[in-house]
Amino acid sequence: MSDVFDLDRLRADTPGCAVGMHFNHSGASLPSQSTLTAMWDYLRKESNDGPMEAANSATALLEDVRAGTAALIGARPSEIAFLGSGSAAWGAAFAALPPLVPGDRILVGRQEWGGNLATMQDATVRAGARVEAIPARDDGSVDASALAAMIDERVRLVSLTWLPANGGLINDAAAVGRVTRAAGIPYFIDAGQALGQIPIDVASLGCDVLKAAGRKFLRGPRGTAILYVRQEFLPRLTPRYLDVLSGPIVDGVVKIRDDARRFEAGEISPALILGLGAAICQASALGMKAIRERIGTLANELRDNLRSIPNVTVRDLGAELSGVVSFTVEGIPAPEVRAALAERQIAIGANGVPYTPLDMTARGLDQIARASVSYLNTLSEIARLSDAVADVARKA
Ligand SMILES: Cc1ncc(COP(=O)(O)O)c(C=O)c1O
Repeated sequence: MSDVFDLDRLRADTPGCAVGMHFNHSGASLPSQSTLTAMWDYLRKESNDGPMEAANSATALLEDVRAGTAALIGARPSEIAFLGSGSAAWGAAFAALPPLVPGDRILVGRQEWGGNLATMQDATVRAGARVEAIPARDDGSVDASALAAMIDERVRLVSLTWLPANGGLINDAAAVGRVTRAAGIPYFIDAGQALGQIPIDVASLGCDVLKAAGRKFLRGPRGTAILYVRQEFLPRLTPRYLDVLSGPIVDGVVKIRDDARRFEAGEISPALILGLGAAICQASALGMKAIRERIGTLANELRDNLRSIPNVTVRDLGAELSGVVSFTVEGIPAPEVRAALAERQIAIGANGVPYTPLDMTARGLDQIARASVSYLNTLSEIARLSDAVADVARKA
């Protein structure tokens, strides 16, 4: 494995590594000490100087975080807004699209995140429009050629969850981008499970909007998310509401910002953004390619181990796999698997249908256990997790 990882140092710099084994980086990862320090230091400054006064002196630091975020995904700083959650970021961009009218169509990948889907379904039902799933290839991933065949003048949006929440699949988001770009149709990518896990380059993805929470593989704080909006696409989005930062009234006229901050609230937490900045610096210093490789190696080791355990079925689809490892244990519901592992100080996730309704329904699954792997994890932790799953499965 790559030696850019000084694992002892990285783990010593992560207080949670000393407590238990964390395999829930898809839900939220463990922050590093530098992220915690960035937040603590700023909160102390707020309490000493006054929050508004502290913010005035942190403007340049916050803009550095914006620049670092942009660099991480190949964007320009003016194309980045900070919001409080992935869903808030996605919803803000979706709500800013022109209103839907009867007969309009929205096309989505089969693994679309349930929250996005609920937002689209609600809007389309009210407008007399509809959401349609793009067919999947045999390996479960989105079929870009099938998408091309679905395009007509009624398609208003294509939305793709790049890496799903319920398994290790990696969709070919760039192939979808080539279709949408050729057709001139808005393209939103949910990169919730991608940010901090795999390299992201918005230009090669060909998307107009991309969003992700900071707390997952990137190891940023909860309550942070990034929203990318392509500069040339911004004029097509009208924010549903404004504040004095995103749309101040100047000489009696509303001046909506001409950058992505038209979606950013004036009242955001600088402490959280600075914590996010520390996480971005760390990921950038390690390098996303090296992170991706290490996660891939660890996750494949885990999959191989799980496949050899009686009563355990690995549920990951796709040719190219991520660090999200999904499995089921015959006769034991996923929440119980999670609880049994929690008793052994091992944190994993357990998902039901609402996270990825189309995919879970298409595959006849009602729940999956989800062990998600970070570069912070070790081969010895993978072995101990595998033994613990075997132990749980024996009792099935
Ligand atoms: C792919 C994907 N999209 C969106 C979300 C939701 O993000 P948030 O909880 O920040 O709104 C998740 C959360 O797990 C996710 O996995």
